[in-house]
Amino acid sequence: MTPRHLTPAPWKDPAVPRDLPPGFRFGAATSAYQVEGAWDADGKGPSIWDEFTSRPGVIRNGDTGRVAIDHYHRYAEDAALLTGLDDYRFSISWPRVVPGGTGPVNPAGLDFYDRLVDALLAAGVRPVPTLYHWDLPLALQADGGWLDRRTAHAFADYAGHVVDRLGDRVHDWLTLNEINVHTLYGHGLTDHAPALGLGLGALAAGHHQLLAHGLGTAVLRAAGPGHRVGIAQQHFPVEAASDAPEDVAAAELFRVVTNWAYSDPILLGRYPEGVEELLPVHGGALDADLAVIAAPLDVYGVNYYEPARVEAPRAGKDYRGVMEVDVPDGLPFSPVPVDCAERTDFGWAVVPEALTAVLVALRDRYPGLPPVVVTEFGASYRDPDPDPVTGRVADPRRVAFLDAHLGAVADAVAAGVDVRGAYVWSAFDNVEWAAGFEERFGLVHVDRATQARTPKDSWSWWLGVSAEQRARD
Ligand code: NOJ
Repeated sequence: MTPRHLTPAPWKDPAVPRDLPPGFRFGAATSAYQVEGAWDADGKGPSIWDEFTSRPGVIRNGDTGRVAIDHYHRYAEDAALLTGLDDYRFSISWPRVVPGGTGPVNPAGLDFYDRLVDALLAAGVRPVPTLYHWDLPLALQADGGWLDRRTAHAFADYAGHVVDRLGDRVHDWLTLNEINVHTLYGHGLTDHAPALGLGLGALAAGHHQLLAHGLGTAVLRAAGPGHRVGIAQQHFPVEAASDAPEDVAAAELFRVVTNWAYSDPILLGRYPEGVEELLPVHGGALDADLAVIAAPLDVYGVNYYEPARVEAPRAGKDYRGVMEVDVPDGLPFSPVPVDCAERTDFGWAVVPEALTAVLVALRDRYPGLPPVVVTEFGASYRDPDPDPVTGRVADPRRVAFLDAHLGAVADAVAAGVDVRGAYVWSAFDNVEWAAGFEERFGLVHVDRATQARTPKDSWSWWLGVSAEQRARD
C-alpha cells in the first residue's frame, strides 16, 4: 500500500462529478455512552463503562461519560443541528432501557429514545439506531457478561422491547457495533471495559456477541416486513512488516482474529480455519449457532480508521504503546507503526486508499455481501476553539481527511462495490473512550465548560457535499 499525501480530490472541481451512486446517503454517527451523560438519570442502570471509568487512572485526564456532552438533556437542540443530514446513526443504551440487563423495562428510558426519534424525524433526518455500542448493563457482567451465552438471549429480549416501542417510526437498525474491537480491547486486553485481559480467550465473548446479532436480527425481522437490519463492524487491512515467514504468519493470524473471525460467521456461515478451538461451543451446537448468526442482512456496515502493520514478537523489543494499547507478552503478533506520510492528532495513520482496499477485499471475499454503508470514518484533530468574533471553527485537516476518504469510497464504487452511504464519526465532539474528551472527532465543536455547540467548517463542507449529491440525483 503506497501512502499518499492528502491532495484535493479532482471532484473539488465542480465540473467533475463525484462518482457516488444516485441516492447515496450522507450521515453522521455517535454512541450513547460517548454523548448522552445522565448516567444515572430517570432509572438508568449502570453499565460496564460507568464502572470502568470510575477506576482511578484508566481514562486520560480522569474523564468519564457521566455527563459527556449532556445529549440526554440537549437532544432537541442536537437533533435540530443535524438538519440537512440524510441519516443519523446513534446508539441505544441497553441499561437505560433494561437497567438490570434482564427483567423490568425502564419506561423513562424508552421515552427518551421516543423523543429523540421524533425530533430527528421532525428535522428530516432518518434515525439509524445501533442496539449495542459497548455499554453492557453492569448486572450482566456480574453473571459473566459476553462470556456467558445467556447474554445473547438477554440482548434479543432487549431488542424486542426497543422495536416494540420505536418500530412504527424506525425501520433501519444496526444490531451491534464493532464486535471485534469490543472483544479485543475490552476482553482480550484491558484498555476498555470490562478490561478482562483474556488474550485470545476473548474470542468466546466475540462468539456470544455474534449470536446476539443473529438472535436480535430474528427479533427485528419478526417485528414486521418493513425493517432493514445490519451490523457495524470495524475492518482494516493488515500488512506484514516484512517478507520473513514469521512476520507473514503473524500478520495472517492478526488478520483473522481482528477481521475475518467476526465477518466470516455472518457472511459465510463459518469461522476461519484455526479459530474454532477458541470458541465456547463445538460440533452440532456451533453449527446451530452459525445458522442463526448467518441470517441474511439488508446492509453491512463498515467502520474504517487506519490500516495495521504486524510482525512476530521479537525478544527484547519494546512494543508498549503502539496503537494506543499495551500489547501483553505472550500474544503471537505485535502491531508496529505503519509507514505513512500523515497522521491525525490522535497519531492514527492517514491512508485513504486503505478504505478502498477494505471495501474491495470484502466484496472479493464475500460473494453475497449485502449493500455496504460506511457506518464510521473520521479523524481526531485538536481543533481551535470557536473564533471569539466570527464563531468559526476552522478544521481544514478534517475536511481534507473526509474528502480523501470519500474519494476512496468513490474509488471502491468505481471498482464495483455496492456502497450506499457514508457516516462521519462523529456528529459531535464526545468522550473518546479511554482517551477521554481530549480527542475531538466531531463535525460540531462542543465546549467542555459550557456544552455550547458550534458547527465546524467540516460540518458545512459535509452538508455541502450532501446537497451537491441531492442536486445530481
Ligand atoms: C469506533 C467506535 O465505534 C467509536 O465508538 C469510536 O469513538 C471511534 N471508533 C473512534 O475511535
